[in-house]
Amino acid sequence: MAAGIRYQVWKTQSTLRKTTDQQSVPTTWWQLPQSQAGRDMQAIIQWRSRAVKVFLRQNPICTYCTQFHMTMSPDISKTVTVEGKTYPRDSWTNITPTILQKVGKNLHCKKHHPLNLIKLRINDFFYKNYFNKYRNPLFSVYDNLSPVVTLYQNYDSLLVPVDHPSRSKTDSYYINSEYMLRAHTSSHQVDLIGTGLDAFLLYGDVYRRDAIDSSHYPAFHQVEGVRLFTKYELFDRSSSTDILKLFEDGQRLPTKQESHTHESSLSLEHDLKKTLENLTFHLFGKDIEVKWVDAYFPFTHPSWELEIKFQGEWMEVLGCGIIEQNIMNSGGVADKVGWAFGLGLERLAMKLFNIPDIRLFWSEDSGFLSQFEVDDPYKPITYKPVSSSPQCINDISFWVKEKSFSENDFYDMVRAVGGDLVEQVHLFDTFFHPKKQLQSQSYRIVYRHMERALSQEEVNKVHQEIAARAVRTLHVEIR
Ligand code: DAH
Repeated sequence: MAAGIRYQVWKTQSTLRKTTDQQSVPTTWWQLPQSQAGRDMQAIIQWRSRAVKVFLRQNPICTYCTQFHMTMSPDISKTVTVEGKTYPRDSWTNITPTILQKVGKNLHCKKHHPLNLIKLRINDFFYKNYFNKYRNPLFSVYDNLSPVVTLYQNYDSLLVPVDHPSRSKTDSYYINSEYMLRAHTSSHQVDLIGTGLDAFLLYGDVYRRDAIDSSHYPAFHQVEGVRLFTKYELFDRSSSTDILKLFEDGQRLPTKQESHTHESSLSLEHDLKKTLENLTFHLFGKDIEVKWVDAYFPFTHPSWELEIKFQGEWMEVLGCGIIEQNIMNSGGVADKVGWAFGLGLERLAMKLFNIPDIRLFWSEDSGFLSQFEVDDPYKPITYKPVSSSPQCINDISFWVKEKSFSENDFYDMVRAVGGDLVEQVHLFDTFFHPKKQLQSQSYRIVYRHMERALSQEEVNKVHQEIAARAVRTLHVEIR
């Protein structure tokens, strides 16, 4: 990082000189101070945000913060810093500053946060119902493992095939070709099993590049649950433990793995489903509507998903299954069998507290947070919207000019420019123009401020900046 590189600040249309090509024009140039030379990307971002604040104070044109973007030439940032550790960038790096800001927030550990209340209720369920032979709680709880994991932990340790679509750069946030932000809490399964734990819960923030709507956000929280059994633990109430076996050299069937007997697979399934149904009833009461759906995960067989009814529609809340025996073997417990589940905390909390939009979990607004300030995590809470401000809907259509263009690149960019003003983005039309030999894509962007009404004028500014950025960084041609 050399001093003397010029940082260009881009300002949105509002106060721009008119240009013919509809793009933002640079309005100010800042010189990177000598004091910042050689510092890493994180430090530069901090310096930049201070500089932007000063600039904003001197040029008070915008009421919200997403209006300024500094473009930096890509080669100036050779590293990326996450949680104080610096990693070299490479061709895999796709983590964005917006996502980096979320790392370390640990909402699930924040007192009185709705995700923390859910965590306390889940822990309580497992503490009250499951004991080891010394009458101590069976499940150990972890909630502070770093979200930075190796690709090996996130995929290979869980038998995710090398060509599995979830490995694509368009689906996950990569720090570089070796490290990423975990896409699920399952990344830690093998490590924790390897430390000798037989039953654990692991809470954490997870990151996925995804569409944007009221129940999808690129950062969210999961709890992973794992329970292992010896033969005596699995068949404990059976008088015929001597006849029943965990393992056989058999065939893989829809109902079992090749190395598992029917009785071990069925007992595990029964125990797993009973545990998760009871957890659901514990959280929502006996009247909750639930259904099991067959599923596929590379790390379990058989596998299922549990759905619950929310606002009249079925919503998937967890994935689970019987742990692949090869994973047990690499964790050093070839003589045991086990089940695992991964559960999304936001979706449970949305249902439990009637929170209509997943973006609200990141709100720092006291109108939101104060509604969850209870000493008893079981106190019933029904969230009351602070203000139900109207939506503003704008469409954008463009020709895709690059093969590498991905919808998720567009979603990330929209999020970076529009921040949490963006409630939903979806692709609603595509067609191929035979003469131009180009694909057209049309997206509908729904804007809504969570605390106040937006004017069409301020939405237009953001929308135009999104169009300009799409041209500049994704090389599309606006139609
Ligand atoms: N990791 C999966 C996901 O995020 C959920 C999951 C499925 C976790 C099956 C598990 C499991 O532990 O056994 O979609």
